[in-house]
Amino acid sequence: MSPRFARITGTGSYLPEKILTNHDLEKMVATSDEWIRERTGIVKRHIAADDETTCDLAEHAARRALAAAGRDPGEVDLIVLATTTPDKIFPSTACLLQARLGNHGATAFDIQAVCTGFIYALGVAEKFIRSGTHRCALVIGAETFSRLIDWTDRGTCVLFGDGAGAVVLEAADEPGILSTHLHADGSYEELLHVPGGVSRGFDIALEAGDPRYAQMRGNEVFKMAVRTLGRIVDETLEANGLKKSDIDWLVPHQANIRIISATARKLDMSMDKVVVTVDQHGNTSAASVPLALDTAVRDGRIQRGETLLLEAFGGGFTWGSALLKF
Ligand code: UT7
Repeated sequence: MSPRFARITGTGSYLPEKILTNHDLEKMVATSDEWIRERTGIVKRHIAADDETTCDLAEHAARRALAAAGRDPGEVDLIVLATTTPDKIFPSTACLLQARLGNHGATAFDIQAVCTGFIYALGVAEKFIRSGTHRCALVIGAETFSRLIDWTDRGTCVLFGDGAGAVVLEAADEPGILSTHLHADGSYEELLHVPGGVSRGFDIALEAGDPRYAQMRGNEVFKMAVRTLGRIVDETLEANGLKKSDIDWLVPHQANIRIISATARKLDMSMDKVVVTVDQHGNTSAASVPLALDTAVRDGRIQRGETLLLEAFGGGFTWGSALLKF
């Protein structure tokens, strides 16, 4: 018989050692600590060492999540890894991680939904588990987004950082993930993208910028993110027949404190019920939601049995949410 639920049994995360502060950035581009704090809430970000890859960050986070769940790598039968910055074109970073963990035979694949990647990965893993085909999943969001940054573009370089977060998701009779909501609209491609790629190549004539690096029309993305996240909050509550006051914790994508506050206002939620880590690591794309989740689990804020709303918005555009009992 298929299990009724998929439940998070352990969380883990990892940030690389090297720190880049707003004051460091003041020496690189025309910006200021004051501007970055006021407009984004970011104070510092972590940057992977030259020889450190997405798989390295993912391995640390995955091992911590497995330890928290009391599981050995050999017990995992599904690895879903969300990243925009894979180590290699192929094999997938999920397969590279599988080999590192000494796991043989589990289903393993990557998911690409940029900043919404972890929510997509969680939604996909949950469906595998509830179908009864898999029982113990490792779900990871890991990024070395700094490798996609043009360090002369102040519109993007102050925003992003590197990191990884992971959860172990297992078959269970009690909840668990209550619902996931995954959406995309590809018509907004050019508001947030890296123009070059494997198939298209990197020899592309652009009005501005370098086709190897992320380009963003920040203000337009900002407005869309606020509107769209407001809508997905309503969709998630309605699908579960819940009121705003039923949510114990909002665990949002960590892109900009102003976007996070707008979503909290929409939920009539005071900021002390919102997990905020953007100040500590900036926007780590697919890693940001599991990094925030692990932080609040380990410092004791999030307790077993509480109701969490996870949400994210990113390139694509993609957006999504997950409602769960922790
Ligand atoms: O994770 C997925 C999605 N990504 C996001 O969610 C990011 C969404 N966007 C944002 O977070 C914000 O739009 C930014 C933080 C990127 C920008 O904030 P904003 O309030 O939307 O500013 P703006 O783009 O409208 O720019 C305001 C001013 C401009 O100067 P002028 O034209 O008013 O003279 C910019 O050139 O701020 C200037 N500016 C900067 N100044 C100092 C832009 N970047 C910087 C900077 N330092 N780093």
